Amino acid sequence: MADTKIYAASTTAPVNIAVIKYWGKRDAKLNLPTNSSLSVTLSQDNLRTHTTAACSALFTEDTLTLNGELQDVSGARQQACFRELRALRAALESADSSLPKLSTLSLKIVSENNFPTAAGLASSAAGFAALVRAIADLYQLPQNPTELSRIARQGSGSACRSLFGGYVSWEQGTLEDGSDSLALEVAPASHWPQMRAAILVVSAAKKGVSSTAGMQATVVTSALFPHRVKIVVPQRMKAMKRAIEKRDFEEFAALTMADSNSFHAVCLDTSPPIFYLNDVSRSCIRVVDEINRLAGKNVAAYTFDAGPNAVIYYLEENEDIVLGSLKGGLDGVSGWKQDVTAAGVEGLDASFLEPLKEGITRVIMTRVGGGPVSVEASLIDVDGQRSSA
Ligand code: PMV
Repeated sequence: MADTKIYAASTTAPVNIAVIKYWGKRDAKLNLPTNSSLSVTLSQDNLRTHTTAACSALFTEDTLTLNGELQDVSGARQQACFRELRALRAALESADSSLPKLSTLSLKIVSENNFPTAAGLASSAAGFAALVRAIADLYQLPQNPTELSRIARQGSGSACRSLFGGYVSWEQGTLEDGSDSLALEVAPASHWPQMRAAILVVSAAKKGVSSTAGMQATVVTSALFPHRVKIVVPQRMKAMKRAIEKRDFEEFAALTMADSNSFHAVCLDTSPPIFYLNDVSRSCIRVVDEINRLAGKNVAAYTFDAGPNAVIYYLEENEDIVLGSLKGGLDGVSGWKQDVTAAGVEGLDASFLEPLKEGITRVIMTRVGGGPVSVEASLIDVDGQRSSA
């Protein structure tokens, strides 16, 4: 009788927010970057993708369902991930003939985010990291997260960094086949667990220019860009690793803000220019600068990806100053923890907070967190149907 068993594995994976930004591909097909980057992995308590990967002779084609909606998997990115993972499984099967031939079966992937996909948060990073990790677990692959990052990178560049928790670099590599363009753990979350992040969700609208289209245009047209990738980023990568090693928030914050500004500067220097920041984003920058000025040191660091949302990093010990100040202007917005009651930094003029009131729809309070976790909860039931965990 044919084997109609359903093989399944489930995982959750985190979002990461870069403090040294990836922007630019030197090879679009393999998703090879023009510069290295570095990110902080955020806690899965607040933001995570839960994915179940299953395979069975009962399934007739590869499918992916995200938040209840069937996705197109014919794209090169999904196909590259499926192909590479199947090849690793096939190698195991040819070395050990007792293993079931999972590499020949169709895959059914079911994924759910615990946050709105449209909020412009880095959902593709968590999504591809979870997809790769879940299939690797299903196939019982021996590859470590760095080896798997080579595959996740081909789904979405930033996804390779979501295979680790804590502080993670993506080393650009030099080889043409991309085999040395990999994610590495700079430090685990436990090295500097006091790192917090407040995400100010500025707009729930989908981003205007996709990161892929945007970075391609920057590479081709920006005159500032070669300076960023050749000089600025290599120096900042070194300095940022040092700041993390020494748990030096002053330096971490200075580099984070400078690199966000540099990334948005090359966007503006692109033809036609790309505007990811809006007036509300710029007001967030001004508030953070003012909080730091009044505190007499960097207690908060803003950073923005390819959209208007602000991510503000700060240390637990400065929560009263940073969150207290922001909450002063955003008290009516959802997402605050009850215990944020502090008045904030002394002397902050209400006019800095006024522009935020109109534009911020939600706050997500989170922290540095761990990497993907294998979980029992399955999104596919014993009959191979989608179930809600
Ligand atoms: O991985 P992608 O294609 O979603 O690009 C991510 C680009 C930024 O978020 C702007 C920067 C980064 O390093 O995450």
